[in-house]
Amino acid sequence: MEFKKFKTEDEASKYVADLILEELKQNSKLKLGLATGSTPIKLYNNLSNDYKINKTNWSSVLSFNLDEYLGIDKNDPQSYQTFMNEHLFSNINISIENTHFPKIGIDYDELINKNGGIDIQILGIGTNGHIGFNEPGSSLDSKTRIVDLTQETIQVNADKFFDGDQKQVPKQAISMGIDSILKAKKIILLAFGASKKWAISKLKSIISFDSNFPASSLILHKDVLVVTDSEAELDL
Ligand code: PGA
Repeated sequence: MEFKKFKTEDEASKYVADLILEELKQNSKLKLGLATGSTPIKLYNNLSNDYKINKTNWSSVLSFNLDEYLGIDKNDPQSYQTFMNEHLFSNINISIENTHFPKIGIDYDELINKNGGIDIQILGIGTNGHIGFNEPGSSLDSKTRIVDLTQETIQVNADKFFDGDQKQVPKQAISMGIDSILKAKKIILLAFGASKKWAISKLKSIISFDSNFPASSLILHKDVLVVTDSEAELDL
């Protein structure tokens, strides 16, 4: 696992956007695994700005989002599909039929597999070490499935996206599993801000998989880049 620390979230997000755009130049049929949440917003802003200026062609890109809430409509303002449309998809020329979200009744892992697998998987990390909605206790061989959100995740998401009202936060989601994530060819995990300090310092000290800290599974993958800002990672 490689760690790359930037002074600010802006610099880190620009770095990752440039890396993706470089890959896209080499491979117009890039398959991206995408994340939602506050962490990738600046990355998506950079990619959107690039499209405005350089018209980088996204028309053959396939995207697979990590997770989606259950119990709300895909057009709900709080759905992850809406999030992606707003922050990225409507700002670039990706074909909407090439964008995918896990859904009940679809074998998402098989769909990803059938399309040749994910080239680059973008991840955030929860304050509790979750990746996707793979909460503590998730197993290494977990596939895309329905998951219960932990109380900590519900509180964090309420504070960030639901005006602090836990009652509005869906209690379940459908999430790619740890096994699904580890199948990506390259993984880039982003972590910004002081709230991620504990998770990043724990990730740096990991020597083996610990199901209580799902991000520890990344130690088993051969191409993981962890990109942080100076608040999320203490030592320069
Ligand atoms: P955040 O969430 O980007 O809103 O911090 C990350 C995560 O929970 O994976």
